[in-house]
Amino acid sequence: MQSKVEVPTSSTQWKDQEIKARDADAEDYFDYCRRSLGPYGDRGQVKLVLGAVAPTRDARVLDAGCGVGRFALPLASQVRSILAVDYSSASIEVLQGELAKRGLTNVTTDVGDLTSMKLPPDTFDLAIAPGVIHHIPSTESRLKAMRNILSSLKPGGRLGVLVYRWGGNIRKSMPKEGMHASHIYYFAFTVEEARKMMEEAGYVDIRIRGFLSLPRRITARLPGWMSWLEPIVAQFPWSVLTSHSLLLFGRRPASS
Ligand SMILES: C[S@@+](CC[C@H](N)C(=O)[O-])C[C@H]1O[C@@H](n2cnc3c(N)ncnc32)[C@H](O)[C@@H]1O
Repeated sequence: MQSKVEVPTSSTQWKDQEIKARDADAEDYFDYCRRSLGPYGDRGQVKLVLGAVAPTRDARVLDAGCGVGRFALPLASQVRSILAVDYSSASIEVLQGELAKRGLTNVTTDVGDLTSMKLPPDTFDLAIAPGVIHHIPSTESRLKAMRNILSSLKPGGRLGVLVYRWGGNIRKSMPKEGMHASHIYYFAFTVEEARKMMEEAGYVDIRIRGFLSLPRRITARLPGWMSWLEPIVAQFPWSVLTSHSLLLFGRRPASS
């Protein structure tokens, strides 16, 4: 899926390109994830991230970069409320349609850019940002988004993030930072880079594990119902060495 397209230099060009691509693909996004990750990976990803942040019935949740709601939809019935944010308005429309179909009324949506929008401060018990931060160009902008999410968490609030691993989804034969064929920017993290970003943004109790760490020839054939296996495999520290992506878990300090 990668091409040799140059990384755009203008700060709005990358954003416009991604919004255009996400808007165009919104209707197909559920199927795209099932096709690209396989039924096991698709369901295992949701299980892994939600398991890491451990939702409770009374939790207020931020889904940062929610897309069409692959995480918000299964999570809605387990928590008090969700604010689902994305800068692709077509993705938000798909999510709103799914919420209406399922009669879910505790999910609020907002169209905005995580690097600059005003999120409600000190509000959320947990936040998730799966597959989002690696699409934000520049260390500085990624930190802005991570700090914006941090200050929207209550002190002690938990965050689960999924990012591309360098050597995983982005193999070492490809550019570490570049553009997908869809003209969407990406940056693939080493474990050290991911930890540094979490620390510099102000998170504590940081844990890093792998997502899809078993050989792809196996996981691609596993059925969706076996996705209970994914959080178990991710408990092993070696999971970061062989995985497709990295699961980053952290908390806002209790006293901040
Ligand atoms: C790979 S998709 C993941 C969507 C969803 N989290 C999931 O896992 O199904 C990345 C999403 O992040 C959104 N996104 C990327 N950068 C963003 C930003 N700076 N502000 C808000 N949304 C952003 C994109 O529009 C897209 O919907």
